[in-house]
Amino acid sequence: MTSQLNSLADVVAAKLRAARRAAALTGAGVSAESGLATFRSGPRALWRDHRPEDLATPQAFARDPRLVWEWYRERLQRAAGVEPNPGHYALAAMAQRVARFTVVTQNVDGLHERAGSPDVIELHGNVRRARCVRCDARVPAPLEGALPPTCACGAMLRPDIVWFGEALPEGVFEKAYEAVASADVLIVAGTSAVVHPAAGLAEVAKSAGGFIVEVNPEETPATGLCDVCVRAPSGTFLPLVVERI
Ligand code: OAD
Repeated sequence: MTSQLNSLADVVAAKLRAARRAAALTGAGVSAESGLATFRSGPRALWRDHRPEDLATPQAFARDPRLVWEWYRERLQRAAGVEPNPGHYALAAMAQRVARFTVVTQNVDGLHERAGSPDVIELHGNVRRARCVRCDARVPAPLEGALPPTCACGAMLRPDIVWFGEALPEGVFEKAYEAVASADVLIVAGTSAVVHPAAGLAEVAKSAGGFIVEVNPEETPATGLCDVCVRAPSGTFLPLVVERI
């Protein structure tokens, strides 16, 4: 297993060395080794115990804003209590070695930025931010205090997260599209590749001629697109690549 991972790391590092531009598309699996639960994999999967329609839709928020806030506050507290792992740090290090390296993430935990990645596109928002439902002001999500919190304008704040049935924030998908379409190498790490439009970005990179690397212990719908499939945790494999760039 180790020698196989080392040879795959050699291949990916060589591709990155030659790349003018590269990107990573990441999901919850990249934060699993920091101790955060994923949505759909493993015994602690978030969507195993909860129904997304009860917690992650505008309808759920309209019905019971406090319940929704309680769940996001718990996730905010968990994210604040963990550290980036070697996978996050490896992606940050790649940005020092490749001329342009963009991390496009579905994660809302802020760990890529905390690890030092300089160019992060957050497709689904950030659990550390709240947004006013009336004046659209964005403020830090309060870690404590009454729920739901209120804005200085008096209206309710909501988590600054993209929920099911909502469009991505303006311009964000376009930036992500541009980053992956112009990437010579795209690393798809820690995502089940089932939630669109994020999942479609691997296809965008492939159609534009990019070299696609999947890093995931499991197969996904994106597996068929990949030039290299690495069946290992991102925190194990990505540092091996960095050592070799
Ligand atoms: P998922 O929970 O759907 O998928 C996590 C993936 O990570 C799975 O394919 C696992 O096999 C893989 N995985 C687990 N541990 C790993 C590790 N150490 N290294 C690499 N891979 C590992 O999470 P996402 O694909 O991020 O959206 O989910 C996409 C979206 O669905 C989320 O952004 C969220 C959710 O509903 C919203 O809330 C809008």
